[in-house]
Amino acid sequence: MDDSVTIPKISQKKVEGEKIVALTAYDYSFASLLDQSGVDIILVGDSAAMVCGGQKSTLPLTLDEALYHCRMARRGVQRALLVADMPFLSYQVSPDRAVYNAGLFFKRAEVDAVKIEGGLSVVDTVRRLVDVGMPVMGHLGLTPQSIRRFGSYSVQAQDQASAAQLLEDALALQEAGAFSIVLEKIPKDLAKTVTKKLSIPTIGIGAGPHCDGQILVTYDMLGLFEDFRPKFVRRYAELAKTIQAACARYADDVRKGTFPDEQESF
Ligand code: KIV
Repeated sequence: MDDSVTIPKISQKKVEGEKIVALTAYDYSFASLLDQSGVDIILVGDSAAMVCGGQKSTLPLTLDEALYHCRMARRGVQRALLVADMPFLSYQVSPDRAVYNAGLFFKRAEVDAVKIEGGLSVVDTVRRLVDVGMPVMGHLGLTPQSIRRFGSYSVQAQDQASAAQLLEDALALQEAGAFSIVLEKIPKDLAKTVTKKLSIPTIGIGAGPHCDGQILVTYDMLGLFEDFRPKFVRRYAELAKTIQAACARYADDVRKGTFPDEQESF
């Protein structure tokens, strides 16, 4: 039986009240580990710019870099739905450019869907992408590609007007054909309202427990990325410490001359 995750299966999970599990990956090794763990959605996030590239924001990631990360991740994924995060400036200039650039992710990296940030301003683009057969995941709330406008990574949609705007954006994305929406760093009650009003699933990150699914940046939840630690991240491992300790032991063995030994030599 083919147990690969498809868009209809993701939609069905909301109907059945089954939570959707999503994580990010940027290369073959991590993508295959996540896939084997039974994660439903693997997002090749533009967070790659920060956790892999050491950049201060997601803005510098180029289209070619995003495609390269997606091609690497694709080789590790057999079961999960693979979603490409379209980088800043690859879809905002015009719907035509967005269709062409999104198409590159499907042709060159064989992804299953793309994610774009924004509400009413990207609705025409979402409609065009969906019309030509490219499934789209939306992203509302704290949209990191707008960090220069926000000025900080603080909680979004806290007043009535911006909460109402976010709900309107979500409904417009759904109407344009998006198959799901990431809700990032918004109050949990607003996420609950949006999740109830939509027939498509919401995937929360820092948006409380009422979303239809959850996503985290894998480097954060595994304790690999230590530059900052958002409140909404639960650490399921402390891999930075494990890696540092292993490397220190290796360095010690090399310096003492105990690595390699007889068995590790030819
Ligand atoms: O780039 C990313 O990792 C994301 C998730 C945080 C949703 O967009």
